[in-house]
Amino acid sequence: MTSNPYPLGLRLDGRRVVVVGGGAVATRRVPALLDAGADVLLVAPELTPALRARVDAGRLHWVPRRFLPADLDGAWLVQVAIDDPIAAASVSAVAAERRIFCVRADDRTAATAWTPAVTRHGPVTVAVFGGGDPRRAMTVRDAIRDLLAVRLAADGSTPAQSRPHAPTGVTGVTAATPGVPGVTGRAAGRVALVGAGPGDPELITVRGWRLLTEADVVVADRLVPGLLLDELRPDVELVDASKIPYGPSRAQEEINQILVDRALAGAVVVRLKGGDPYVFGRGGEELLACAEAGVPVTVVPGVTSSIAAPSAAGIPVTHRGVAHEFTVVSGHLAPDSPASLVRWDALAGLRGTLVILMGLKNLAAITATLIAHGRSPQTPAAVVQEATTGTQRALRSTLGEVAADALAADIRPPAVVVVGDVVGALDG
Ligand SMILES: C[S@@+](CC[C@H](N)C(=O)[O-])C[C@H]1O[C@@H](n2cnc3c(N)ncnc32)[C@H](O)[C@@H]1O
Repeated sequence: MTSNPYPLGLRLDGRRVVVVGGGAVATRRVPALLDAGADVLLVAPELTPALRARVDAGRLHWVPRRFLPADLDGAWLVQVAIDDPIAAASVSAVAAERRIFCVRADDRTAATAWTPAVTRHGPVTVAVFGGGDPRRAMTVRDAIRDLLAVRLAADGSTPAQSRPHAPTGVTGVTAATPGVPGVTGRAAGRVALVGAGPGDPELITVRGWRLLTEADVVVADRLVPGLLLDELRPDVELVDASKIPYGPSRAQEEINQILVDRALAGAVVVRLKGGDPYVFGRGGEELLACAEAGVPVTVVPGVTSSIAAPSAAGIPVTHRGVAHEFTVVSGHLAPDSPASLVRWDALAGLRGTLVILMGLKNLAAITATLIAHGRSPQTPAAVVQEATTGTQRALRSTLGEVAADALAADIRPPAVVVVGDVVGALDG
C-alpha cells in the first residue's frame, strides 16, 4: 500500500533542476519548471524542436549526451522523462543516494515525488493528486478550473496584494475604501485596459476574463459583448462609458477621470473595450491619463474586429499567392476631410487587402476615391456587420458596387469593409 503524498510547493527560483530526456514528456514538463524560475539542465542526446528552441533562446542548459551521475551535482530535483526503465532506474538510484527527489515519467511507483495535475488562476495554483490515477487527477483539476474561472473572485477570496503580476506601485493595504462598493482590505487600486474581442463573449483572452472576475469597477464600451457583463458579480460597479454625456472628446476626459478616480480610491478597475484596446480604441490616451496620475496600468490585447470580422465571414486577411499584406484603416472621416490622416491615393495603389473600420457613412466617397486613384472597380469587396455575434450579417460585392449594395441591404454599424482578392479566396 502506498501512503498519501505530502503536498509541497517547491520554490525553484534559480535552483538547479535536472531533466533527463528530450522527448515529448520533457517538452511538456520543462515550461512549468522555467515558469517557476528553475535553472534547468537538460540531459539528452537529442531534443524535440520545441526544446531546441528554448535552448537556442538561452532559457536552459543542454548536455547533448546520456545521463552521468555528475549531472546531479547541485541539483534540488530531478525529472526523469525517458521511457527506458533501466536507464530511468539508474537515474533514480543516483538521485536516491544523494537525497534528491526524483519524478519518474515511466514508473510513478518507483518515483520519490509526483507531479500533480495543475490549474493556475492568477496567484492561485491548485494542484491535484488523484490517488495514483493521473486521469482522475485531471478530471478533478478540470472541474476545479471551470469553477475557479467563475467563482474564485466572485466570493472575494482573491487577495489583490498577493497577485504575482501586481504592477509596481501597488503598496500597502487599505482597511476600507469609502465610496467604492465592494472594496475592502485590498491593495492600492489599478487599471487594466482589456480588449473584449469583437463580440462573441468567448473571444476574450483568458487573462482578460480573469481580470474581469477580479474587478471592483468595470468601465465598458458599447461594443463589448453583453454576456461578459451579465456574468459580473453583483457588487461590481458597472460604468457604461457609452452613456457618458458631453461631446466625444469631453466624454473621453470623463472616462479617463473615472478610471483615475476609482483606482486612486483603491479599486481594481477594468476598462473593457471592444476588439483590441489599441486599434482605434483610444487605449493609448487612457494609459497616458492613468500614468500621469500615478495609477498602475496593464494592457491586455484583444482579438480585433479588423481581423476577426473578415475571418468570421470566411475571409482570411492574407492568403498565400493572393495577398501578402493587409492594411487597417479608419473610414470615420471622408477622404477629402482636412482632418483625415489617411493617404487614400496611396492605399489605392496597394495590391493587398484593405480593411476599413468605421467606414459605412463614408463608404461611397471612400470607394470612389480608391477607384479614382487606380484600384479596379471589379476588386472583390465585402461588408461584415456585427461579426461573431448571433446577428452577424455579411455581404459580398465589388469595390464599384459595395457602397450601394450595403445601403440597399441596410447594413448598419458596427461593420467592417474588406477590399481585395482575399474576399473570394476561400470560395469553392
Ligand atoms: C471604435 S472602433 C473600435 C475597434 C476595436 N478596438 C477593434 O479592435 O475591433 C469601432 C469599429 O470597429 C468595427 N467593429 C467592431 N466590432 C465589430 C463587429 N463585431 N463586427 C463588425 N465590425 C466591428 C466597426 O467598424 C466599428 O465601427
